[in-house]
Amino acid sequence: MYHGWKYDATGACIDMPSEPAASNFRDKVHILAYPCVERNGIVWTYMGPRETPPPLPSFEWNMLPEGHSVIWRHLQASNWMQGLEGNIDSSHLSFLHNRLTEDGSANFTGQNDRGLYLRDKAPLMAVMDTDYGTMYAAGRLEAAGRRYWRVTHFLMPIYGMFAPITATDCPMQWWVPIDDDHVMKWEVRWNPARPMTPEERDAQWLRDPGGDIEPTSDPLTHHRPAASPENDYFFDQDAQLNNRMSGLPSVNIQDKAMLETMVTTRPGGHVVDRTVEHLGTGDAMIIRTRRRLLEAARALRDHGTVPPGVDDPDLYAVRSATVILDDGEPWVEVAREGMVAFTDRPVLSDEANLRGGRRFVAE
Ligand SMILES: [Fe+2]
Repeated sequence: MYHGWKYDATGACIDMPSEPAASNFRDKVHILAYPCVERNGIVWTYMGPRETPPPLPSFEWNMLPEGHSVIWRHLQASNWMQGLEGNIDSSHLSFLHNRLTEDGSANFTGQNDRGLYLRDKAPLMAVMDTDYGTMYAAGRLEAAGRRYWRVTHFLMPIYGMFAPITATDCPMQWWVPIDDDHVMKWEVRWNPARPMTPEERDAQWLRDPGGDIEPTSDPLTHHRPAASPENDYFFDQDAQLNNRMSGLPSVNIQDKAMLETMVTTRPGGHVVDRTVEHLGTGDAMIIRTRRRLLEAARALRDHGTVPPGVDDPDLYAVRSATVILDDGEPWVEVAREGMVAFTDRPVLSDEANLRGGRRFVAE
């Protein structure tokens, strides 16, 4: 803008009108630029060292036509790892997101209303490594002899698929670090079988009460919810007494309030101080996932081993699942086929389970 120098998408200077026409000075000037690819309305960029970027991950929602999904974002003032760990933590559903009555609050859009979280607050945790990262099933006793299993994936390096609730709703969240102290949380819900109706898209898109602040040229104002420490995240004591355990108005704000107000490594920073944490049985998935990430980082540093998924985008073609089984039945065996993407099978969800009576039905 200052001298009218013009650059192309690769960062090369292609016009320098402030220099004599015969000058080749512009050939010596280059700015940093990253290659971008657009798919399904999302612009992906590659910031690594390779000449040719690796392929985009073959997430089901990313390969289907645009109308099958709804995508939105929230900025969060936390380190990205705190956000990710919230996605793969099952126990907090029974507390932070719990309701005090079966029907709960109007703000619980998208959550099931079966009250399962109310009964068994200490789920059995079964954790395993997968080709793409890690997976766990959290099993809650929901009635005599029956267990409700929520199967969740972590996919290298920033993606999480928690268990689906409706038969048409595959959920995924992922965390793009902005800096050490801020992360953009992305949300997608997709229907593998058909495009969503406008009403379905609207119902799936969980807007925060209070909306977002007005964005400016500061990137930290973009998609930033108005709920913040300064307004106590719209905490409502009456709601806490009568309605929902946290007194906070939506699932996203409940998570955000917890993740932004943890004990941090430095004043004003948002990196949680893990030297003062206490990991329990319910943290088995977090422990396994941290180990997996550290192993991948060390293998890359020490041996140049490329992490899973980078060169094998089809590893991402999975879905999460929910199954309700007799206690002792193997959830992995029952859920296995339902976790494969790009098939005609219905989403293995609460709703599908209920419709099928015991497990799920192909329709
Ligand atoms: Fe949560």
